[in-house]
Amino acid sequence: MLVVAATQNAHKIKELAEITKDFGMELISRSEAGAADFDIEEDGATFEENSLKKARAVMECCGMAAIADDSGLVTDALGGAPGVLSARFAGVLGEGADAANNKKLLALLAKTPDAERTGRFVSVVTAVFPDGRVIAARGECEGRIGRTERGDGGFGYDPLFTPLGYEKTFAELPAAEKNKISHRAKALAALRERLSDSV
Ligand code: IMP
Repeated sequence: MLVVAATQNAHKIKELAEITKDFGMELISRSEAGAADFDIEEDGATFEENSLKKARAVMECCGMAAIADDSGLVTDALGGAPGVLSARFAGVLGEGADAANNKKLLALLAKTPDAERTGRFVSVVTAVFPDGRVIAARGECEGRIGRTERGDGGFGYDPLFTPLGYEKTFAELPAAEKNKISHRAKALAALRERLSDSV
């Protein structure tokens, strides 16, 4: 099944393709589907709303099944922030955004003791089909927020996030290891179950 990935984030596309490679799904990018030239405002209050909005907009543009991921980091000490605002937490878009976001998060958590630096990555993936079917699934990965950035892999908040049961951050773990346990992997595994139930 040919599916358009609604995201333009190259890191996310790589992870989505890696995780779904055994799903019988061939992912193509928005530019390959001719649906790259517009922005989708992520103004929803929840990951679910934004994920649906992105998948629907891309499906409507190219008339093909589309899959979107809306994701972010939720911290307990900051009442859920950065949450749905994860990508634009520090107000910087494009190059430099990840570094600025991590710096802001570290500053806000500077006085938070280690025991309270808990949180989770959340991903909501939504598949929207031209026949009107909408299938969504959520995945979460619990962990801790560090005090310094560690590791060169991954993207976003990965250098600050150590998944529960591990010593290494997502940016220090090999990509294949992250892609087995991540929020995105869990959401896609649940989506896969629901997709096979729906056909
Ligand atoms: P979205 O495009 O609104 O879904 O933005 C998601 C944002 O959440 C990204 O730009 C990252 O800042 C953060 N994020 C989501 N998933 C991950 C991940 O796997 N690692 C690190 N950061 C992530």
